[in-house]
Amino acid sequence: MGIKMKKTIGELLEKEVRNLYGISISKIERMIEIPQEGNMGDFSLPCFRLAKELKKNPKLLAEEIKESLNGSNETGYISRAEAVNGYLNIFLIRELYIDSIMQKALEKDYGSSDIGTGKIICMDYSSPNIAKNFHVGHLRTTIIGNSLYKLYTKRGYSVVRINHLGDWGTQFGKLIVAYKNWSSKELVEEGGIAELLRIYIKFDAEVQKDSALQEEARAWFAKMEQADEEALVFWKWFKEISLKEFDRVYKLLNIEFDSCHGESFYMDKVPALAEELKEKHLLTESDGANIVNLDQYNMPPCLITKKDGSSIYHSRDMAAAIYRKKTYDFTQCLYVTGAEQKLHFAQVFKALEVMGYEWAKDMYHIPYGLVIMEGKKVSTRKGNILYAEDILKEAISRALTAIEEKNPELREKEETAKKIGIGAVIYHDLVNQLIKDVNFSWEEVLNFDGMTAPYIQYTCARAGSILKKADTKDIQELKSNTEYLKDNISYELIKLVGHYPDAIKEAAEKYEPSVLARYVYNLAVQFNKFYQECRILTAEEGYKEARLLLCKAVQKIIADAMSLLGIECPEEM
Ligand code: ARG
Repeated sequence: MGIKMKKTIGELLEKEVRNLYGISISKIERMIEIPQEGNMGDFSLPCFRLAKELKKNPKLLAEEIKESLNGSNETGYISRAEAVNGYLNIFLIRELYIDSIMQKALEKDYGSSDIGTGKIICMDYSSPNIAKNFHVGHLRTTIIGNSLYKLYTKRGYSVVRINHLGDWGTQFGKLIVAYKNWSSKELVEEGGIAELLRIYIKFDAEVQKDSALQEEARAWFAKMEQADEEALVFWKWFKEISLKEFDRVYKLLNIEFDSCHGESFYMDKVPALAEELKEKHLLTESDGANIVNLDQYNMPPCLITKKDGSSIYHSRDMAAAIYRKKTYDFTQCLYVTGAEQKLHFAQVFKALEVMGYEWAKDMYHIPYGLVIMEGKKVSTRKGNILYAEDILKEAISRALTAIEEKNPELREKEETAKKIGIGAVIYHDLVNQLIKDVNFSWEEVLNFDGMTAPYIQYTCARAGSILKKADTKDIQELKSNTEYLKDNISYELIKLVGHYPDAIKEAAEKYEPSVLARYVYNLAVQFNKFYQECRILTAEEGYKEARLLLCKAVQKIIADAMSLLGIECPEEM
């Protein structure tokens, strides 16, 4: 569980403002910042926004609150306040703060919360398309979704992990036609997805010359929708082949799902959806197709059924949302996909809203940026793809080479290389804001220095090795002795330890694992400073025990934070 210091200070400041100015301002906690530099205080309140609300000069406001705080005897844990250029900087009584942090930080469930108890979140992520490779874009949603799943679970929610496989649609019609024209059983069995992809690309090229192919493909898909046996046998076969490859990727990443109902599961629920829309006078015919008009919301229409009556991505998603609400009664339904699907989800959510489903407001799209390879968008059609499995394997092999160079004596090299290689790829995907494009380059992903997983993992292993060298009896019997941790370097580290629950909260609430990724990097940097400046194993009595205790807290948090990102920390590196 967490330390509520920020909250406590927020409440105290609210009270001060009420006493001083007779006005209640309820969101002060959110305005409080944590200064980078220790000499700017442990917490800081920029008074600019508050001053606007109170119609006062910010400098004066900071000054007045400071005077009042320093004169008050209610603030048991504040040592002093300072006003600097419109900022109110608050310094805590170190001993008290250290003590409260150290006690919490060593609890088993530090950083957990029960805020989500009894609430269900549907998390739709990964969702690759059958018969197409699992490429870097799908790798990103898989990594992001997995981290959000872990973050929300840590906050007490029950999360249903949903892999909404792209296993239905006109592309299967194309694939059947392509298979019949340019492939064979042997070729597909041998080549797997690569062969399916080859003929899919070939279809796209051939259709430019012969447009009749398009009609043929459409007809085959229509057959699938009518449960034609021959069509379905093909479809099942293509699906099996694809799932084998996907499973290999999931295994490498250590990822599982609670539901793998793909789009095919919802196609027979679309007629009922269309019927319901009709009854609600929301269905309009347009060129033989059926749509929901969204003109008044400035959006193109949401397609429900096509000319030939078949379902489509939009309507299958609407049917899926209704099914999920019925099945899970979610409090939130989240979708992690590339930003290019923003409009799609806006249409789906709006169409459900106009149907009168008030829970449509509980659905959120979490968009992420493109994966760019040497300046080009990754695209299946153009063939410039980077496959997830290749990337992960390459990362592991490069990690193994690095281990051979740096630490050839290491035990469990293969296992460790896996944790390092996969960790590096995951961290690289999560360290920046989701919406930013990721520039994929081997040098950056596998840079073992700087803001990377290997740097953080190495720090964790270093802390672990210090603890191993110490007498375990010493560590277990330790009582936190705050006297020995008051120096600036230890104190800065302890404060970071204390911010862990807030980092989790912020990352979850903003749907931004990057908040946690950056937090844990800062923690590692500060720990390495502490390690360089403060002797641990050779320190005098009192100091040694207290520092070991701090070391233990940091190691535990790094490992825990990394696991919330989906990354394992090897014991040794
Ligand atoms: N299969 C889709 C794609 O690869 C993503 C599906 C996302 N989930 C959903 N419910 N639409 O683009």
